[in-house]
Amino acid sequence: MPAIVMSNAGPNGAKKLEGKITIYVVICGVIAATGGLMFGYDIGISGGVTSMDDFLEEFFPVVYERKHKAKEDNYCKYDNQGLQLFTSSLYLAALVSSFVASKVCTKHGRRLTMQAASVFFLVGVIFNAAARNIVMLIVGRILLGVGVGFANQAVPLFLSEIAPVHIRGALNILFQLDVTIGIFVANIVNYFVSSIHPWGWRLALGLAGVPATMLCLGSMVIAETPTSLIEREQLMEGLAVLKKIRGIDNVNAEYEEILHACEMARQVKQPFRNLMKRSSRPQLVIAIAMQVFQQFTGINAIMFYAPVLFQTIGFKNDASLLSAVITGIVNVLSTVVSVVLVDKLGRRFLLLEACGQMLITQVAIGGVLLVNLKSTNELEHGVAVWVVVLVCLFVSSFAWSWGPLGWLIPSETFPLATRTAGYAFAVSSNMLFTFVIAQAFLSMMCHLRAGIFFFFAAWIVVMGLFVIFLLPETKNVPIDEMSERVWKRHWFWKRFMDEEALDKKDSV
Ligand code: BGC
Repeated sequence: MPAIVMSNAGPNGAKKLEGKITIYVVICGVIAATGGLMFGYDIGISGGVTSMDDFLEEFFPVVYERKHKAKEDNYCKYDNQGLQLFTSSLYLAALVSSFVASKVCTKHGRRLTMQAASVFFLVGVIFNAAARNIVMLIVGRILLGVGVGFANQAVPLFLSEIAPVHIRGALNILFQLDVTIGIFVANIVNYFVSSIHPWGWRLALGLAGVPATMLCLGSMVIAETPTSLIEREQLMEGLAVLKKIRGIDNVNAEYEEILHACEMARQVKQPFRNLMKRSSRPQLVIAIAMQVFQQFTGINAIMFYAPVLFQTIGFKNDASLLSAVITGIVNVLSTVVSVVLVDKLGRRFLLLEACGQMLITQVAIGGVLLVNLKSTNELEHGVAVWVVVLVCLFVSSFAWSWGPLGWLIPSETFPLATRTAGYAFAVSSNMLFTFVIAQAFLSMMCHLRAGIFFFFAAWIVVMGLFVIFLLPETKNVPIDEMSERVWKRHWFWKRFMDEEALDKKDSV
């Protein structure tokens, strides 16, 4: 039975949007989501590689020596700007490239943007795996970053646009599910290659070519989104794809709705300038805030540096990678929970529950380390196990909330006219703050010590209040009706939407 959702948009008022979950739409979703694998694999692999002795000895001899000195300060042994730059350079490249990707997405479609992503990524992989010096390493990472910027721009938009409205959350979260699978696989690879000397790290970096090849081949067989086709005036193709992905012939209501959105979008000549108008403020603020807050949960302090972190608190090399594998599994499984629940319980419920769980676990981790981990001692085994359990509880709550929803919500809130431009701000905010955390975390840990966990806990309180007061629910609202049904009805944001009429005059 096709699901029916009422729609108010379009020139003719309320209509029915019909559509079932076809195998075809699921296959397109699964294939496109492999873009998330590239991103995730990289997040997982950089932490592992930067804690491998062979890698450190070759490129960061100072860190290598410091790591092996007896009685080095527990909280400071990895603090090195060069090492952090290796991890972070990717994010700076992704930040800049997401704006270029937004233009490519509008002009040439979501599919071609994904293909370009995979090609950049593949070339970056070659540079990294063959690196003979730091310059090759950094050039490789920059190319990987461009790949990530392109993929993270195109994939979530693609997923939100092809999804039938009642499973839009679930389908979009396939992207984040692949991010978590990528991180998990990378953790396993780290674990095994760390015993291959002296070139295990090359294998680890080289295997990033696998997800990129999957995306490259996959994106040749999937459909372009009907929205992107219609936006680029390929009306017949757009209609045909819409029928195919919905599995029904009568797609008139949705087709009209997309046509209407495209007409509105065509009137906007300069999407980026339009984004600066008052009427775009609600979506823009939400998109940026979701990503900034996502990073200030402190998740990447754990993801990038899980092996480093676990070594810091007294696990030996192998044991620490193994602990990182455990958090990886928790991350994947908890994301599945989100896929199942997001369209039933809604976005706000998941975010708020997670704020509570993350707050408690961050404070507990900070407390345990404050009491038990001094500069040069090792944690008792039992205490260290407790830290791993707390980290798992923290990761699970992130994985069913801020992780996936940081990507989902910005991809579904903008009207078509500003969608790709607005989403570029979401992607680049993610990259900017991922960079900030990656670059600062090890130094912050060295200075704030266990206090770093209280720092993140304080942010979690802020983001909880933000959700309560400022984040509207977007579950089950058709993507092209957000303005009417969400923003114009929100107690706070509606004052910006009243100005929409004023804005329109000078946007044409
Ligand atoms: C975030 C990443 C994070 C990952 C963890 C993603 O949504 O953007 O920064 O490392 O989730 O699973």
